[in-house]
Amino acid sequence: MVKLEEQIKILDFPDLGDERGNLVVVEGGSAVPFEIRRIFYIYGSDSEVVRGCHANLRSEFVMINVSGTSKVKVDNGRETRIIELNRPRMGLYLKNNVWKEMYDFSPDSVLLVLSNEHYDPEEYIRDYETYLEIMRGKHFE
Ligand code: TYD
Repeated sequence: MVKLEEQIKILDFPDLGDERGNLVVVEGGSAVPFEIRRIFYIYGSDSEVVRGCHANLRSEFVMINVSGTSKVKVDNGRETRIIELNRPRMGLYLKNNVWKEMYDFSPDSVLLVLSNEHYDPEEYIRDYETYLEIMRGKHFE
């Protein structure tokens, strides 16, 4: 049975800053557990907007609120958890097959997302009932 705690991880990136300011380095393959093939960032979403609402068959992600705050609800079909991204040094790693919803964006929220895969709409599951069916199968694998 797949446990949500094994599918997500809170990452804490070191701050290499000095008296000139902060410097956070995120390297693929070490600070994040994959080689980075894609980055995208989300900003200008109103606080009542809910984004995401999908799972990915192959993509893994690391989400970082480099500015401002947002919340991420993660779900594996059996368990859910809400994580607040509220520090530029904090990352949320999501394995593939995790359902995610991002919401409660602060006005200054810039949500940076790193992924191990290029964009492929075919590997997105955007229907929650379909997701539950797929996960029901996986939970009993
Ligand atoms: P969407 O997946 O709905 O964004 P979110 O996860 O924030 O809710 O993506 C919005 C649009 O952008 C959709 O038409 C697909 C496109 N898109 C890409 O072309 N490449 C990407 O890497 C991403 C994340 C989205």
